[in-house]
Amino acid sequence: MKNFWKKCKKIYYESLRFVLLRLAYICSWGGGKFYCIGDKLLTFHRHSYGKDVSGSYWLDRNAYFANNMNELHKTIKIELKNQKNFYKAQAYCDGYLYQGLGIANILGVRGSEERFDEYGLQHYLCKDMLLYDLGCNSGFLSLYCHLRTGCSVRGVDINPYMINIANATAKAFGVKNVEFFADDLNNIFVNWEQGSADVILTLATMWTDDEQYRVSLKQHFDNCLKLLKKNGVLVFETHGDVSRVDYVKAINELACERGFRLLEQKDVDCKARKLFIIQT
Ligand SMILES: C[S@@+](CC[C@H](N)C(=O)[O-])C[C@H]1O[C@@H](n2cnc3c(N)ncnc32)[C@H](O)[C@@H]1O
Repeated sequence: MKNFWKKCKKIYYESLRFVLLRLAYICSWGGGKFYCIGDKLLTFHRHSYGKDVSGSYWLDRNAYFANNMNELHKTIKIELKNQKNFYKAQAYCDGYLYQGLGIANILGVRGSEERFDEYGLQHYLCKDMLLYDLGCNSGFLSLYCHLRTGCSVRGVDINPYMINIANATAKAFGVKNVEFFADDLNNIFVNWEQGSADVILTLATMWTDDEQYRVSLKQHFDNCLKLLKKNGVLVFETHGDVSRVDYVKAINELACERGFRLLEQKDVDCKARKLFIIQT
């Protein structure tokens, strides 16, 4: 009996979810205000239903928002398929997209526009700046940084399929000064010019679930700080392990040891993670 009700509840929520997504989809075709309503519905959906499956749901149903990004959407599908078939390391989000990009009608687990606003990145970036995105995944967030502020971007990720998606998306937007490279961060810290970046994003990339980059906080900060210009800004986001690791204490201690300033610290991602913004 208990199982029966559990099943009914599941069907009920799944139907609601389907209606919600369809509504968002229909709204998007209306443009203007309707598009905004669609966007709100999607945000609501993202917060109400487990974040890690919303992307797969969307992609599975082939229910992309717009019709003007069809080629890009096709490329993304192919890259995700290749990732599934050939990528040896762990793919994030069950092989769907970790990052979303609303303006390209791509739903991922973590919306880039929302993150840009939540992190307040507009306060730290401007046209003449060079932004490094270390462990950039599909590069949507740093591409969005470029679109919003005009900064130049160099993103790197070890996953070549994500980098293919990043470059295809940058191409679809026809942007210049945005480049993505498939490489290991350990190589980047040696090969990229020291003191060259104005701002570095290192978001959820210190002790990665795929186990391809795991270093101590100190080591990671030292690696990143080397790439920063004087007075450069490092935007560091933790993994979802904030209840186990006292990042505030550790980063404050590091600030004393290494002599950088902690400009901001805040809870993000519905308090699942912490964000620290530091200046050298
Ligand atoms: C949890 S995701 C975070 C992605 C992105 N920074 C964000 O917050 O949206 C971690 C990313 O780090 C990448 N990664 C893991 N090990 C790496 C390495 N050694 N070099 C470069 N990227 C790596 C993974 O491929 C993955 O895209």
